Amino acid sequence: MRKLLPVLLLVAGSVASYAQSARERAEELVSKMTLEEKCTLIHGERGDAEYEDGFHIMPIPRLGIPAIRMADGPQGVRNKTNSTYYPCGISLAASWNRDVAGKVGEGIGLDARARGVAIMLCPGVNIYRTALCGRNFEYYGEDPYLASETALHYISGIQSKGVMATIKHFALNNQEFDRHGVSSNADERTINEIYFPAFRKAVEEGNVACVMTSYNPINGTHASENSWLIKDNLRAWGFDGIVMSDWTSTYSAIGCFGSGLDLEMPRGYVMNYENAKRLLDSGVIEESWIDEKCRHILQTVIEYGFLDNPVKDESIPEDCDISRANALAAALEAPVMLKNNGILPLKKSTKKSIIVLGPNADIVPYGGGSGRMDPIEGRNITLFAGLSGLGKGYKVELMDWKAPDYEKIRKAGAVIVAAGFNYDTEGEDFDRTYALPEGQDELISKVAAANSNTVVVVYSGGEVDVSPWIDKVGALLMAWYSGQEGGTALARILSGKVSPSGRLPFTFWGSIDKNPASANYYLSKPYENRTSKRYSKRFSQYPFVEYGEGIFLGYRGMSHFGVEPMFPLGYGLTYSKFDYSGLSVEPSDGGFKVSFTVTNTGKASASEVAQLYISAEGSSVIKADLELKGYEKVSLDPKKSAGITIFLPKEAFSHYDVASHSWVNDPGQYKIMIAASALDIRLSEIITVD
Ligand code: BGC
Repeated sequence: MRKLLPVLLLVAGSVASYAQSARERAEELVSKMTLEEKCTLIHGERGDAEYEDGFHIMPIPRLGIPAIRMADGPQGVRNKTNSTYYPCGISLAASWNRDVAGKVGEGIGLDARARGVAIMLCPGVNIYRTALCGRNFEYYGEDPYLASETALHYISGIQSKGVMATIKHFALNNQEFDRHGVSSNADERTINEIYFPAFRKAVEEGNVACVMTSYNPINGTHASENSWLIKDNLRAWGFDGIVMSDWTSTYSAIGCFGSGLDLEMPRGYVMNYENAKRLLDSGVIEESWIDEKCRHILQTVIEYGFLDNPVKDESIPEDCDISRANALAAALEAPVMLKNNGILPLKKSTKKSIIVLGPNADIVPYGGGSGRMDPIEGRNITLFAGLSGLGKGYKVELMDWKAPDYEKIRKAGAVIVAAGFNYDTEGEDFDRTYALPEGQDELISKVAAANSNTVVVVYSGGEVDVSPWIDKVGALLMAWYSGQEGGTALARILSGKVSPSGRLPFTFWGSIDKNPASANYYLSKPYENRTSKRYSKRFSQYPFVEYGEGIFLGYRGMSHFGVEPMFPLGYGLTYSKFDYSGLSVEPSDGGFKVSFTVTNTGKASASEVAQLYISAEGSSVIKADLELKGYEKVSLDPKKSAGITIFLPKEAFSHYDVASHSWVNDPGQYKIMIAASALDIRLSEIITVD
């Protein structure tokens, strides 16, 4: 299974190890371990020594097992280090560019090796249900195919540098409010079609090294103790790596020893020697279960070569040029332009007096919690700094948003309002508001009333309530959290040096109540009461949340529930226009080869994201009218065309069958659609699938 294995074993230490597989070597080590040593290995620790910070697999010096360092994730390498800050997860999905995700993964892999970090606690792939989830910014949006592709490339990037990736949080951790307590209750088909695919692809195609379980119970059982989740699913997909708990997400010794969990983090609250001894003595658990956990841990460490070789690569600088370049490349492709009345790119007439204001004008904002980044000194470029750096012809002034001078604003050529969230208003362990934080709606409305050339740049992990001012402003750009190079990238986009090329990785409903998942997001309204921080009771007053929208999440629910969003999945404006032509769908390799041509018919160089959706024309089971099954981003100069071919495997036409607990193919007629967004179908053809 693991491609790294032969290469890394070649550099392994002892002669005996050349002939042994990683598994055999791990088993031999386990056979030499005492129960106490085994119990040391299956949990992290909190204490005085350097490796006792709750971010290490503990060493066993007697057997030559070193401490293995890990770090968050996913926006760069953190924990006791300053490092390159990359655009956040939703940015990578919004780029709709697999290479962008891959390059960010590579950069993070290099940054990890430079610091001696063997395990990166990323990517996060929990699906976006509503805008309120505090950690949407770390994740890849609402579509399982887009999330899977983005994750796969990000993981491959990290692991190509010999660093282990950890896909998290397995599974259904789709809200932050009361994350220890609220059970995510969903049906098996929905779980398999919407919430599992990114994890499954990472295991089956990405050889991901580690999986982190989530805090929440799933259908009543906490993830770390859920053997249906870990054994019947994850292990059944062929996963033989390390299953670790999220930090303090372990609730009972019997549950964790028996579930298939390998590693309890950050310390042995329940999977410790005392509990092991007690439960072994009473015959409730078996020592072979503990051996299996140790085997998974050691085998993975051996496969990556870290039993024999140092993780730290002294030849890689901590402030790495490649990392910075990759962060910039991602930041250039992530922003999504949702509205432009012609003000962008900034015209000659407006360039001479640009006012920038707003809470995020001269800081580099980030989502809060374990994903926050500590930047390398001098590397964070704010929006104001980026615009100021445009140089000749631009005059940019920073204004205090708490004391705006509306007379000056009225006279300015253009006004850029840097709005949105930051670590204290959007982040881990709490859900956020739908509305922008206090004072911002009023600011935007007043600025737009004073000057029609108002551009709003929103920093957030997802949709925000734009209804108070969307009709009044000239342009709206979703910047997400665009990392240390965000200011430079946004300045290039606003000035027209680069055309915006991001597309929405989720449906932007325009009203929270339009989103069908909102009715099922919490047990009852109002949403506002659920944003309180640090609500971490183990047993909740809201025992479960029912995923009542089922498979009809996001754009899949548009026609099913009869709701039209403000902006659909895949939507985003550029500075150019594109035509689609010449669709051909040919049988190939058991699936279909879908070919067509995209032409840039506008005046600017720009990128288009061609999206492939399918729809069953009658089916034995209820299905969504639109399912994303492919996409390709293409960059074109004016008047240029590109031929695009997307392969549709037969599995694209299957559904998860709850009777047989497996994916089954659905023969019949399907409409193949090539689209510029989920509501902008440009080409289509009906085909028959055998
Ligand atoms: C988060 C994880 C993170 C871990 C370690 C937890 O609070 O949920 O995503 O990797 O902390 O920082």
